[in-house]
Amino acid sequence: MMMKTLAIEVFMCRSDNFGVLLHDPESGLTAAIDAPEEKPIVEAAERRGWKITHIFTTHHHTDHVEANLALKERYGLEIVGPVNEALAIPGLDRTVADGDEFLFGEHPVRVIETPGHTAGHICYHFPEDKILFAADTLFALGCGRLFERTASDMWHSMQKLAVLPDETAIYFGHEYTLSNARFAISIDPDNEALQRRVAQIEALRAEGGFTIPTMMGLEKETNPFLRVADPAIRRAVLMEGATNEEVFAEIRKRKDNFK
Ligand SMILES: [Fe+2]
Repeated sequence: MMMKTLAIEVFMCRSDNFGVLLHDPESGLTAAIDAPEEKPIVEAAERRGWKITHIFTTHHHTDHVEANLALKERYGLEIVGPVNEALAIPGLDRTVADGDEFLFGEHPVRVIETPGHTAGHICYHFPEDKILFAADTLFALGCGRLFERTASDMWHSMQKLAVLPDETAIYFGHEYTLSNARFAISIDPDNEALQRRVAQIEALRAEGGFTIPTMMGLEKETNPFLRVADPAIRRAVLMEGATNEEVFAEIRKRKDNFK
């Protein structure tokens, strides 16, 4: 039997956080992917007529958990989150760890731990729906800043995501895409797929549009953090003989200092 397609509602929270609601029309379940801000999440749920039953937390940063308790009180929902950050996540009901699988209605969900941005950051992968909620690990044309783990850890985390099918739709945590695009083109200026994409992103952002979701195949063609083996990028950063991991660390450092 074919499962019905999950419905997804995307909206802005705070200044640049994405709010995401995921709804399963068969079971009636609705999950908020993180809980950055109460009001826009509640308004989005009301707009669609959905009652929020879960929060799927990716990491403990305030701009991802601040509305946890308010939403829990309002909806009586269940909060799922990473075992390695359990103490830092308000209202957490159920912990999950790398490789855990569970069902959202009849839709399989797999947990991928991706330390780097934080020590216990997790992504939620829906393999049959070909959807990844990557939060602050993998952005359109970028990757998360390293706050709690090393570039080497983040590199290994990115490799765990890069093996997912090209047709995977990726929902990420922040609208940073224009700034990511400017950095990407600065170290990969001759990449024609990237040139086309930067033009599209500039036009979309000028109209106030969102750049979410992206696709894994497109990221592999254009995201410098997934392209560290590319000879042109290696030449651009003068690291032709370095390991992939070393190139990744250098690119992450350059992005931190990019104006
Ligand atoms: Fe974060």
